[in-house]
Amino acid sequence: MNIKLENVKKQFGDTVAIDDISLEFHDGKLTTLLGPSGCGKSTMLNLISGILPVTSGKIYFGDRDVTSLSPDKRNIGLVFQNYALYPHMKVWENIAFPLEIKKVPKNERKERAYEFAKLLRIEEYFERKPSQLSGGQQQRVAIARALAKEPEILLLDEPLSNLDARLRLEMREEIRRIQLETGITTVFVTHDQEEAMSISDHIVLMKKGEIQQHGLPQELYDEPCNVFVADFLGNPPINLITAVKSGNKAVTEDGVSFFSEGLNNVSDGRKLILGIRSEAFEVLKKDEPGYINSTPAEVKAVFMNGKDVLYSLSVGSMEIRAGFSNNEIYRQGDKLKIALKKKGVHVYDFDTGEKIG
Ligand SMILES: Nc1ncnc2c1ncn2[C@@H]1O[C@H](COP(=O)(O)OP(=O)(O)OP(=O)(O)O)[C@@H](O)[C@H]1O
Ligand SMILES: [Mg+2]
Repeated sequence: MNIKLENVKKQFGDTVAIDDISLEFHDGKLTTLLGPSGCGKSTMLNLISGILPVTSGKIYFGDRDVTSLSPDKRNIGLVFQNYALYPHMKVWENIAFPLEIKKVPKNERKERAYEFAKLLRIEEYFERKPSQLSGGQQQRVAIARALAKEPEILLLDEPLSNLDARLRLEMREEIRRIQLETGITTVFVTHDQEEAMSISDHIVLMKKGEIQQHGLPQELYDEPCNVFVADFLGNPPINLITAVKSGNKAVTEDGVSFFSEGLNNVSDGRKLILGIRSEAFEVLKKDEPGYINSTPAEVKAVFMNGKDVLYSLSVGSMEIRAGFSNNEIYRQGDKLKIALKKKGVHVYDFDTGEKIG
């Protein structure tokens, strides 16, 4: 089921939590609302669910205008961070609870609950009480319960936040598996960029009630439209370097030069921010072309990472994160000549933070 927001606005008193957003969530896809705390992710989810009324604008599920429908009429499944299972009910009764409200007969309820318990791989706990389950198992019950009434849309608000790191990784893969198996249109809220990158078809990156950029995860990573997006996505974080355009290079305050093709269309003297991914650096040797335009750097720290190696380099007075393959491993104190590759280098206007090259 396609979800469409049309000029949706939500205000709490003077606080504009959602600022005139128009957006489509595509049928059968998993879309993630991503952004820092307070950017409006939960508010947007609660507007879609109907828990909160919009201040203005329209919400459509397919062709149906649901703007003024109550949550129970929207045919949605909801899962929150604190999963709120009924402690006195068994696992299967929790899963089947929405069906009881729908007046489905008891034996059919139990059958359907079993189906969804199997989908979530918790059928062996069917007769247990929630208190006899781990956090991850309880969260699976909550997801099974949300799915049991066969909603057209699944809404998940930070469902993994209460789980430890390992379980969190497992559960996010589970959520993706279930979403793909059922094909249910899903909106998933998280502030964890890595989680968002790994499981989403689409990412909507928000800041202060506005969309900064939305698209495929790889699009946001490869082509961040402004400094905020560039900085929010990626681990290790992108290097952000203030410089001034001069000829075919960008020169920092302490006189370090970076040469990049991305600077070609930028006017001379313009103040800018270079966004450079750690993987966009390469080490040049004396006999390699481009050596003359390389930038001197010294290895400050080495972080082994299996297939590649992350370095902290000092370049002028700056500390820069650079990753190189493990073909050759440098040591602390090594002096290198580094250059920029074409991919992973972004040029932003210093004042607006918008991409200019
Ligand atoms: N009921 C409310 N009354 C007043 N202000 C609210 C209310 N709910 C949310 N807000 C405000 O709206 C903004 C967006 O809040 P929201 O809960 O949507 O953020 P979020 O992105 O989900 O953050 P988090 O990652 O911390 O959960 C915040 O500034 C918040 O203080
Ligand atoms: Mg929230």
